[in-house]
Amino acid sequence: MTARLMLRPFETSDVDMLHDIWTDPDVRRYLCDGVIISRDRAMGVVRSHFASVSSFGVGYWGIHTLEIRRMIGFCGFRFINSTPQIEMMYGLLPRYWGRGIATESLRAALDYVWRSTSFKCVWGRAGAPNEKSIALMQRLKMQFVASTPKLAFYVIERPLPPDRAGCLQENRSEGVP
Ligand SMILES: CC(C)(COP(=O)(O)OP(=O)(O)OC[C@H]1O[C@@H](n2cnc3c(N)ncnc32)[C@H](O)[C@@H]1OP(=O)(O)O)[C@@H](O)C(=O)NCCC(=O)NCCS
Repeated sequence: MTARLMLRPFETSDVDMLHDIWTDPDVRRYLCDGVIISRDRAMGVVRSHFASVSSFGVGYWGIHTLEIRRMIGFCGFRFINSTPQIEMMYGLLPRYWGRGIATESLRAALDYVWRSTSFKCVWGRAGAPNEKSIALMQRLKMQFVASTPKLAFYVIERPLPPDRAGCLQENRSEGVP
């Protein structure tokens, strides 16, 4: 729960709403390379979420507004190809863009990763012209790592616990012990 939103892990019954979101022209342009995915493919993503949560503790949430109590988007994490690294995924129905909803959701999602899993960092990849996605990663204080003509890569690392942060500050002012 955040100030305006409820993040609820995907449920099987979410598949039709997710299919609507993932096939919206402005969402699928970057999320699915413009492809209109089938309902079966959407169901496959929901199933992969169940497997990922049970094995690794990370998956996806539907984003629901507390005001209208319906799903307006999604966010969460998936493994990058067959690496042990995870990346953020997200999308909102376009009429909900421009209100800080994705930022609020992903702050809560990242907070969950730091509190409840042992992943050391989270990656973000955005299609080079996906300015809104890049602006979102910058708002989340992710670090730019590299870009190719097609993709920009960002990363955010697990924040240091307050006691360690204190040590680093001391070391900086007093030199390495
Ligand atoms: C990526 C995406 C979620 C970003 O949506 P967004 O609305 O730009 O992001 P936010 O919800 O964080 O809103 C930020 C905007 O709201 C404004 N805003 C208003 N209130 C705000 C608040 N309380 N906090 C932060 N921003 C706020 C910001 O100024 C910003 O406006 P701007 O775009 O004019 O600069 C959306 O473009 C999308 O769904 N794209 C399609 C799917 C996609 O590309 N996914 C990424 C690939 S995984």
